[in-house]
Amino acid sequence: MSGELSPIDTAKFVAAKRAVEFVQDGMRVGLGTGSTAAWMVRCLGELIREDGMKITGVPTSSRTAELARQVGINVVSLDEARWLDLTIDGTDEYDSDLCLIKGGGGALLQEKIVATASDQMIVIADPTKQVDTLGAFPLPVEVIPFGWQTTKALIEEMLVSMDVLGQQSSLRMNGDAPFVTDEGNHIVDLHLQRIGNPRQLSMVLNQIPGVVENGLFIDICDVVVIGHGDGRVEVTDINEGTHEEDRIEFVDTTNLFADI
Ligand code: A5P
Repeated sequence: MSGELSPIDTAKFVAAKRAVEFVQDGMRVGLGTGSTAAWMVRCLGELIREDGMKITGVPTSSRTAELARQVGINVVSLDEARWLDLTIDGTDEYDSDLCLIKGGGGALLQEKIVATASDQMIVIADPTKQVDTLGAFPLPVEVIPFGWQTTKALIEEMLVSMDVLGQQSSLRMNGDAPFVTDEGNHIVDLHLQRIGNPRQLSMVLNQIPGVVENGLFIDICDVVVIGHGDGRVEVTDINEGTHEEDRIEFVDTTNLFADI
């Protein structure tokens, strides 16, 4: 694979590269899912290969587990690790309070469990993920297959009384068949356009029978690392109230693909 990256991949790569600086030897790390998180997994693989760092990784999807093993990370289940020092994951949207919409890749359930079982969650993203108000990205809701159409109808009925602009929902498909998550469930995507009260919506959604979990991550993430196409990175910690800017220097990324 070429070492040349597009601006968007450069943005994802430098965010991942900066975020793995938070990882210390011996840590148990939650490994997110998606294209940005995949860069982070490759960067961890590089730290293991080149710096001899020892990391235990808990993946948030079968896709991430496969990549993590390929790059040499010691992969264990959450039940084996029990608690994690840090989780690094991508996002579909984030706002100024670091409330997130996740699940575009269908891995929200394991992602939320793993992030919640971590001392810290760092989200990595390119600038397109930042929004003033959540909701332009469809909100994924994981539902059990049994009675999913009833669950979907109950969700739509509930949305009428919520502070949202849209009330439509759609079952996520994989070709001609419903998409199936790693936990054997389906995803209903909510086309809300604007979510006025994410905290309330998240709580009400999770009270509907048949709903397993929703893609709103509230009070879970503390730090966001934003990468830019020119190699700049911004690190914002909302607990510490800090904002730092940095630049990641790299010649090419060929070695990140060496073992893949
Ligand atoms: C996976 O289910 C999602 O939560 C991803 O983390 C999210 O969709 C971000 O993915 P990208 O990094 O590919 O945009």
